[in-house]
Amino acid sequence: MFLDTANIAEIESVLTFKWVKGITTNPTLLAKEQGQSRANISREILAILNENQRLFIQTTGETQAEMYEDAQKILSKDARITIKIPANENGLRVITQLKQERPDVEILATAIFSVEQSYLAALAGCDWVAPYINRMENQGLNATQIIADTSALFKKLGLPTRILGASFKNTAQITETLLAGATDVTIPTELVKMMMDNKLAAASIQTFNLHAKGGIC
Ligand code: E4P
Repeated sequence: MFLDTANIAEIESVLTFKWVKGITTNPTLLAKEQGQSRANISREILAILNENQRLFIQTTGETQAEMYEDAQKILSKDARITIKIPANENGLRVITQLKQERPDVEILATAIFSVEQSYLAALAGCDWVAPYINRMENQGLNATQIIADTSALFKKLGLPTRILGASFKNTAQITETLLAGATDVTIPTELVKMMMDNKLAAASIQTFNLHAKGGIC
């Protein structure tokens, strides 16, 4: 799993767990770190990642040329960067171009709301697609079904593209997404903490510790 945040303190508080495979960011998450540039935040995050952990950075731009240029700029910083490219028409053109020129570069197609978008992104050669679970549900879409259909389609066609579930607002969405067929998830830090510190478990653990102190066998 990945952490969905650009906040250094949050990242440091969870990154020591080796099952965290990296960090995903987007322009909104970066903008929350007020007064800091994308380049600075990326540098700080890369400095605390190990050699196997990845940093996902999203291209910006309206046109194919703008997106392509920004992607090249982002990728020039570090080999541990996976480039996130929005899965619209221009984004698909950039993905196709980049994969032809630099097949080794890891690409994630982002802002996915449908099976069709994932299908085209996979055909373009993407390594990952990122369906936006909570944003789909806000629009009345059945996110779990969309993940299940995407997973089934990739399997049927032998497409190796991984499904990275994103945009989570509660912990049930995360397990439902994984059970539906997502290979990976990116989770906001507060939800990771919630998953680790289950309230019912906390009560049981507290009782065990009380009994241990009182010597009850
Ligand atoms: C992944 O990095 C996505 O950009 C992110 O999960 C979107 O999350 P949001 O819908 O909470 O903004």
